[in-house]
Amino acid sequence: DWVMGDYIAEAVENIRKQVGDEEVILGLSGGVDSSVAAALIHRAIGDQLTCVFVDHGLLRLNEGDMVMEMFARNLGVKVIRVDAKETFMGELAGVADPEAKRKIIGKEFVEIFQTESGKIQNAKWLAQGTIYPDVIESAGKGKKGAHTIKSHHNVGGLPEDMHLKLLEPLRELFKDEVRELGVALGLPREMVYRHPFPGPGLGVRILGEVKAEFASLLQRADAIFIEELRNTIDEASQKSWYDLTSQAFAVFLPVKSVGVMGDGRTYEYVVALRAVQTQDFMTAHWAHLPHELLGKVSNRIINEVRGINRVVYDISGKPPATIEWE
Ligand code: XMP
Repeated sequence: DWVMGDYIAEAVENIRKQVGDEEVILGLSGGVDSSVAAALIHRAIGDQLTCVFVDHGLLRLNEGDMVMEMFARNLGVKVIRVDAKETFMGELAGVADPEAKRKIIGKEFVEIFQTESGKIQNAKWLAQGTIYPDVIESAGKGKKGAHTIKSHHNVGGLPEDMHLKLLEPLRELFKDEVRELGVALGLPREMVYRHPFPGPGLGVRILGEVKAEFASLLQRADAIFIEELRNTIDEASQKSWYDLTSQAFAVFLPVKSVGVMGDGRTYEYVVALRAVQTQDFMTAHWAHLPHELLGKVSNRIINEVRGINRVVYDISGKPPATIEWE
């Protein structure tokens, strides 16, 4: 619509004025905010923007390829893809504590981003997808919560170390506005309306020690769950269960349980499904997913993901449970 068109024109003009002929780098996570920021800045300054996408191996199934397809191929954005799976797996080996894992992932992420962006000639600006709620949260920092959570995502601490100026074109926007802007800039609707995904990714959805083998099992189980949520339409609302839930994902439990398959006994891992409804993610209800949907997801995971022989559904609210398991 015309209001959004005007907004984009003005934002583009502002970015051009701010940046001039200097180079900008942006850490692309695949999340909504950094994606929309990238699309907007690219609209304004084209090839003066270089994005760095660090794949820590703990992303959703095929996420890396999807990000490259969308930005590099479809939008023509310069993206450097860093395949850092081995590095992350190496650093995480033997570490089971959730906060220790978060710290390692965050630190490694910043280091890799810094190394890669250091190679970009003449970069003077660091762009971030900071949105208005992040700005407000930072003002009240000190308490445990969203700001600490976001610090990894927004690679906090970098500008000082790298002597870069900050470019934050979404600072005045609420999430809904960021999404509308994303669609207007040509990002696919399914991408812009995705559930949130934590910075440490599957690192906190594989309970205890993270292993590449577990990540692969979890990615496939999670993809089946998400696919079925997207494909199952609720009659009453005519919405998909994906759109009716605020966040949904699979969790890998490193426990083995006994099962039967054909004439044989199996002894394999367990996956838990988590789906919640919430406004603000501070409190949440578990989603009353239809039993048929749960049954189908369970059958598919057990049949299609060798190594998983049991699926359970998490019926805990927040509080007292958190949305993530770690
Ligand atoms: P919890 O598990 O605390 O999650 O109920 C609330 C929301 O925050 C997300 N979350 C994180 N996001 N880094 C992030 O970027 C993190 O370390 C992290 N931990 C939790 C979670 O996915 C949910 O949306």
